[in-house]
Amino acid sequence: MEKVLVTGGTGYIGSHTCLALIADGKQPIIIDNLCNSKPIVLDRIETISGKRPVFYEGDIRDRALLDRIFEEHQIQSVIHFAALKAVGESTQVPLRYYQNNIAGTLNLLEAMQAHGVKSFIFSSSATVYGDPASVPITEEFPRSATNPYGRSKLMIEEICEDQLKAENDWSITLLRYFNPVGAHESGTMGEDPSGIPNNLMPYIAQVAIGRRDALSVFGNDYPTADGTGVRDYIHVMDLAEGHVKALNVCSAKQGLHVYNLGTGQGYSVLEMVKAFSDAAARPIPYQIEPRRPGDIAEYWANPAKAERELDWKASRTLSQMTADSWRWQSQNPMGYEE
Ligand code: NAD
Ligand code: WQD
Repeated sequence: MEKVLVTGGTGYIGSHTCLALIADGKQPIIIDNLCNSKPIVLDRIETISGKRPVFYEGDIRDRALLDRIFEEHQIQSVIHFAALKAVGESTQVPLRYYQNNIAGTLNLLEAMQAHGVKSFIFSSSATVYGDPASVPITEEFPRSATNPYGRSKLMIEEICEDQLKAENDWSITLLRYFNPVGAHESGTMGEDPSGIPNNLMPYIAQVAIGRRDALSVFGNDYPTADGTGVRDYIHVMDLAEGHVKALNVCSAKQGLHVYNLGTGQGYSVLEMVKAFSDAAARPIPYQIEPRRPGDIAEYWANPAKAERELDWKASRTLSQMTADSWRWQSQNPMGYEE
């Protein structure tokens, strides 16, 4: 059975990707230091899939631990999710972000090199497109970064490109996610942000369940149809399946492979509020607040390259995203706490 090392595998996207890997007959081996996730996720993965991933609790910056994992398992590919991801926090503690994301990735790539593992899939982000000149965004658009988090993604993309120039028998895939939302359809796995959610969908979900009073809508004076920001929200299970497709298509193909993973469809903040309110059958109170610094008006993907080359297309609708997110939130009001 093909063994895949999944860093950050107990986190939001990593845990759903483990389900998709298992469904495709692969064995995920997880390393996670649990700085933003909980070990109960492993129980949920086992309940849904009937398989429990091998789990190493530890940091990707711990080279001895990585060596042990590569010695104990014949790993064929690495899918690298582990990172700190809060944009605002990254401007407050940039060194922590660079230490974790950059040093962690370097350590991982060096360990792969030492053990002859040459297939790497990296969680990149639409944030590497900065403020795009137009939409939809294709993979060839120029890259830029406006905050340390985004810069860490951009720098890792460049590190990967340099590594491939030096050792062209590697396969490196950069997957640029748009806005992942939703939860597994069972309602037993989903997104569980610690503290006040930074992102729109988990915030709306916590308003719907009564943990927060009202959503702050950051700006209604953008040049969009209703004045609120527009994003390409993608169901986390579609995203998870995109990783499996990328693994199957790219891991045996040497070189650099870059794909947008999005739906190609944008929705505004108010459209998201309406869709969630419909799914939860209750009003979502909100108030209009000033724009959030650093936000851009609108962006969405052109996902044609992934459809053409990976035979992958996001298939879940907005109402599935909101329904699954609400099922998770209503069945687990405090996330994985209970
Ligand atoms: P998450 O925080 O839920 O998952 C990340 C996991 O990595 C967590 O379980 C955390 O404990 C672990 N981790 C962090 N640093 C670690 C380290 N040094 N060693 C070991 N484990 C470590 O986040 P997510 O939403 O699942 O995101 C996964 C990846 O996708 C990240 O790289 C993120 O930057 C990227 N991404 C996320 C989004 C998004 O909106 N969620 C969008 C684009 C890209
Ligand atoms: C979506 C829309 C907000 C919260 C971020 C990162 C990006 C990527 C995905 C990792 C915007 C509005 C939000 C709220 C609101 N992450 N909003 N009230 O900013 O598109 O992307 O997550 O790579 O790098 O920047 O996502 O969910 O924060 O915001 O009105 O309480 O919702 O202004 O228009 P964003 P988001």
